Amino acid sequence: MRNLDSVVGKIHQTDARSFMRELPDASVDLIVCDGPYAVTTHDWDNVTDIQHFNLGLLKSFSRLLKPGGAAYLFGKPDCIDFIDYRPFLALQSKIVWYQPSRLAQGRVSYTNNYDVICYFTKGKAKTFNLDDIRVPQLVELEHRLRCEKVPSVMNGKYGKTVFNPDGKNPGDVWGDIKQLTYKSKELVSRELLNTIQKPEKLMERLIKASSNPGDLIFDPFCGAGTVPVVCQRLGRRFVTCEINKDYCRLAEKRMAKADDAMKPRKTYLSFQPAARPDAPFFLKPAWCKRPSHAVAPI
Ligand SMILES: C[S@@+](CC[C@H](N)C(=O)[O-])C[C@H]1O[C@@H](n2cnc3c(N)ncnc32)[C@H](O)[C@@H]1O
Repeated sequence: MRNLDSVVGKIHQTDARSFMRELPDASVDLIVCDGPYAVTTHDWDNVTDIQHFNLGLLKSFSRLLKPGGAAYLFGKPDCIDFIDYRPFLALQSKIVWYQPSRLAQGRVSYTNNYDVICYFTKGKAKTFNLDDIRVPQLVELEHRLRCEKVPSVMNGKYGKTVFNPDGKNPGDVWGDIKQLTYKSKELVSRELLNTIQKPEKLMERLIKASSNPGDLIFDPFCGAGTVPVVCQRLGRRFVTCEINKDYCRLAEKRMAKADDAMKPRKTYLSFQPAARPDAPFFLKPAWCKRPSHAVAPI
């Protein structure tokens, strides 16, 4: 069994299943699992029975999670069909990540244009930060007010219904987070588009909802490092592994870049009393002589 402190904050190049066996019981607050879907031509995605594979993962997650912890499992619509996960974790929601822009190539049936993200908890969820993940109400104000005054709303059990000005619960169909494209600034490499790298915004919503700063998050399938990068930005601790050496290097580079971007930069003055044109010359810094937009590093 590994000491937790020795693995936190690093990307481990290894097989997720053996790595999980070395982690202590009830040690992580949240698991974000974006592993094989069994639909692409990648070697690592060649899983014959994805449901059985996922059941194995869920068993391990149930051991690793602290009571009240959460796990998000990504997959295709049938990824947990016909398996009994109930002895291990409680399924709270199946979130549909809807991607309307996906190419519709199907000829004999309806093209699949969504992924599912199964949201599990170990017992009753200890964290669900709804206020951190609210999305804009798409209903115009007048209509909202009218709805609140409908007699059945006013007098019924929804009598206290008011539209929250901070936004609403994102619900379980997410069409507001777009897939990455070739033009996305966060795309680490074109090879990773579509089948590997996920948008930071998507991982950010899961992590904000189900963890707090300082919590420990486990990502068994690191890929290009989206989860660790978001954890770093949101002040969460992480532990992650990835079987592919090249992806590990890419993820490490990405994290170093993100870390750099977060470091305080030389600040630029936006306003200084001494910079006023009418200030006496001995109070004026030299850079005042530059054109009007000129502000210099301190
Ligand atoms: C869908 S990608 C994860 C992408 C990641 N969420 C991101 O945004 O970059 C799945 C990753 O799991 C890795 N993988 C597959 N099987 C694995 C295993 N048994 N152990 C560790 N990593 C594995 C693959 O190499 C691939 O990078």
